[in-house]
Amino acid sequence: MSDIHCIGIATGGGDAPGLNAVIRAATKAAILKHHWKVIGIPDGFDGVIWPEKSRELTLKDVSGILPRGGTILGTTNRGNPFHYRTVENGAEVVRDISSEVIANARKLGIDAVISIGGDGSQKIAHELFEKGLNVVGVPKTIDNDLSATEITFGFDTALHTATDAIDKLHTTAESHHRVMVVEVMGRDAGWIALEAGIAGGAHIILIPEISFSLQRICDYVKEREGYGKRFTIVVVAEGVKLPPELRQLSRGGPVGNLIGDGIALTAKREVRVSVLGHIQRGGSPSPFDRILGTRFGVAAVELVAKKQFGKMVCLRNATIDAVDIADAIGKMKIVDPQGEMVRTARAVGISFGD
Ligand code: F6P
Repeated sequence: MSDIHCIGIATGGGDAPGLNAVIRAATKAAILKHHWKVIGIPDGFDGVIWPEKSRELTLKDVSGILPRGGTILGTTNRGNPFHYRTVENGAEVVRDISSEVIANARKLGIDAVISIGGDGSQKIAHELFEKGLNVVGVPKTIDNDLSATEITFGFDTALHTATDAIDKLHTTAESHHRVMVVEVMGRDAGWIALEAGIAGGAHIILIPEISFSLQRICDYVKEREGYGKRFTIVVVAEGVKLPPELRQLSRGGPVGNLIGDGIALTAKREVRVSVLGHIQRGGSPSPFDRILGTRFGVAAVELVAKKQFGKMVCLRNATIDAVDIADAIGKMKIVDPQGEMVRTARAVGISFGD
């Protein structure tokens, strides 16, 4: 007989389409299969800092949330209980309130917490686990840059959004004979830019993993004109490493704008820039993300039932698996510049500006 009676669910870090699918699946599996009580912890671990904000999740609470973007629990990418920032007597103070968080979770009757989040949230989850809290992790990021899992939910939806934008930019670029620069998310890895670029038939893809030069981009724009293509689509990951000639022009702001200005000045072509930003994090999750979220949610509950705390669910060889959170954190999955995906893109004429 399991001595788990109640679990808490928290979502931390930037939101991603599919979070509600995880919350729904974990809640349903916990209630229907194990007859546990489920507590929804609002706004990441902030909800345990202020336990009165937490509330029970019933089957009714999770009804109808599968197609909804965002997270019904709310999230934050600031609340770290090990470095909690507050204002005391008018001055900002950073305190370690992790012991209070663990004590509060126990006061709420929570036997284990399912922590759904990216690298930052999993680091916090791991530290809380080491301090005695029973934690199971569920990975999340639209950037798909966690090495422990083949794919994270949210990425597929973001890819659809970015590809749809590139498709739309294509027709207007062609009509006006313009260079269209579209900046997509990807702070450390270029997965969204690379895959949306291939899916949308982009001509130039700029990613953090491959150094580029402004001159090579401009040469490629002119090369296309040489065979009658008077428009060019450039997809830029927000995390690209700027070459020196652009770095010196930078005054902050989206890199897409800077690259667009650089092309306009150097190639003397008409350029328009679209920065997709948080649109990529919103909207209804794709069927793939709903299914992966559901699989992760159910698998997380099973890890709790087996008391495999300190583990994180993941996808390996298209099968749900688990890894130690300790082994999963801090290891990025970045695009291999020599990998098959980049070679495929080059084979169909896509330039990486190098
Ligand atoms: O980590 C996912 C991500 O979408 C990054 O690509 C982006 O840099 C970041 O979140 C932005 O997060 P926020 O605006 O919420 O701080």
